[in-house]
Amino acid sequence: MAITILGIESSCDDTSSAVIRDGYLLSNLLASQEVHRQYGGVIPELASRAHQLNIVPVVSQALSQAGITMDEIDAIAFTVGPGLLGSLIVGTSFAKGLSLSTGKPLVEVNHLQGHILSHFIKQEGKDNRHPSFPFLCLLVSGGHTQIVAVHDYFKFEIVGHTIDDAVGEAFDKCSKMMGLGYPGGPIVDRLAKEGDPKKFSFAKPHVEGFDFSFSGIKTSLLYFLRDRLKEEPDFIEKNKCDICASFQKALIDILMKKLIMASDATGIKEIALGGGVSANSGLRDEITRTGRRKGWNTYLPEFKFTTDNAAMIAVSGYYKYLEGCRAPLSIAPISRARDFGI
Ligand code: KG4
Ligand code: ZN
Repeated sequence: MAITILGIESSCDDTSSAVIRDGYLLSNLLASQEVHRQYGGVIPELASRAHQLNIVPVVSQALSQAGITMDEIDAIAFTVGPGLLGSLIVGTSFAKGLSLSTGKPLVEVNHLQGHILSHFIKQEGKDNRHPSFPFLCLLVSGGHTQIVAVHDYFKFEIVGHTIDDAVGEAFDKCSKMMGLGYPGGPIVDRLAKEGDPKKFSFAKPHVEGFDFSFSGIKTSLLYFLRDRLKEEPDFIEKNKCDICASFQKALIDILMKKLIMASDATGIKEIALGGGVSANSGLRDEITRTGRRKGWNTYLPEFKFTTDNAAMIAVSGYYKYLEGCRAPLSIAPISRARDFGI
């Protein structure tokens, strides 16, 4: 019998709902919150309020686009954390209410597990190529930067992680410092395509083992811009493409160095990318290029599955449901998850 899962994602500033049947995507709806743009970053209170406004229409449209009713759903999978607490509470409370009124079981999903398992979302008419276990996932988002060894759908081992900021935050801050807008990642990515990545250089961190650090390079950019602006007030305007290309290249170099080290040390050559920053064209090209040189099999998520989406929550919920995982109605969201074992 087919298993149909309704997914709900509300961990940050995207309200999303999706339906997955036996791993195949039937619908994936997303309401992005424009309200944060004017503030140059996500305002948690406004995010919760926007989720509250969006969640009912988004879930009902996900069901209608999938051509099903709640009767045909086997379980409701929702993001339990990590993320903004107020945002998580909206999705969790909605999922609980829906479970109580329909009698459908709840399955809680770790947001990071969702990003990693997005590689297992199947789509009708596509080749649905996915990594084999064990694989390494470079998980890069606005809140996290990790190298994760994925042994099966439920067994995750963090090989390396950032000791300070996430790489997505470094992209966002770069854009903010240069007055380019929010969210910064896609803007820096676009401008970097027109620039020279060798024009400027930024101090790289020295961090032990497979860990990362991005706070020093952010400060390096800040001082660089401050000094150049003193000499030339329109320095940013004249050089924005080269600055973005050089800064993006520095971030990619940091990521790639540790990913190569982790692959060499573990002997794992199945390499996947996940999280919002996996939309970055420079990073995607570099992983593909390095993969060819190192004999890796590389897996890049489709663009619609790079940033936050409920399809990844639904597919994770599907595998957890098959394993017999069910969440009690007393479950509460967790803003900071220490590991994947929520
Ligand atoms: O996974 P995600 O949607 O949310 C979190 O879980 O954090 O990731 C959002 C992050 C933001 O920092 C955003 O700037 C970054 O992903 N991002 C990008 C690109 N698209 C989104 N960074 C670099 N290049 C992109 N094309
Ligand atoms: Zn995310």
